Amino acid sequence: MKLYHIRNLWGMLQTTKISEKVSCCGNKQRFSSSLLSGDIGRFIVENTEIVGEDSLTPEIKLRLLTAKCRFWHANPVLWPLPDPYWAIYWPGGQALARYLLNNPGVAKGKRVLDLGSGCGASAIAASLCGASHVVANDIDNVSAIATIINCELNGIGPVECLSDNMIGSQPKHYDLILLGDMFYDEPSLMDFTGGWTAA
Ligand SMILES: C[S@@+](CC[C@H](N)C(=O)[O-])C[C@H]1O[C@@H](n2cnc3c(N)ncnc32)[C@H](O)[C@@H]1O
Repeated sequence: MKLYHIRNLWGMLQTTKISEKVSCCGNKQRFSSSLLSGDIGRFIVENTEIVGEDSLTPEIKLRLLTAKCRFWHANPVLWPLPDPYWAIYWPGGQALARYLLNNPGVAKGKRVLDLGSGCGASAIAASLCGASHVVANDIDNVSAIATIINCELNGIGPVECLSDNMIGSQPKHYDLILLGDMFYDEPSLMDFTGGWTAA
């Protein structure tokens, strides 16, 4: 299992090259010529805005793609990374994070998995509620870096970020699994995760 357990945030941000990302993301090879140098962390910081107050969880700050960002208006083909699901705070994630913050006992002391974590807001909410261990899982590696940046924005240590596809596995080490806006294009996901709740 690929593990991004970040002990040194800035070390990773400075050494993770966008070109390295392309090499592990086959469906984005078409963008490789535009990826010359720099790192993904810096790219995220330079091309997102810190927001939060207009979401359901104004106490959580996130770096997101907004109308003030240049790529909001640019031709999408110029975007040099996988589609930035992590740059949007999806309604399901907002509702889930709000629920956790309103009911801190749900996550407190628990081993929490945020599956399809995107920007990491639900994982951050669980951490703020006192979860004993939080894992943010997203098949987009860039999500891991955005999540770590967002953890720092909110004054918490980085959660553990995993990028493997856990669908089809049997996660046994979690007390609570969070799914925010994950039932949109995988018809089998609901059936599969239903098996998790039965376990
Ligand atoms: C619509 S976004 C929701 C993000 C976040 N939960 C929220 O509500 O803001 C769905 C996310 O799921 C991720 N994803 C899709 N399939 C996945 C899978 N099999 N395992 C983990 N993450 C997945 C995508 O990369 C994307 O970041």
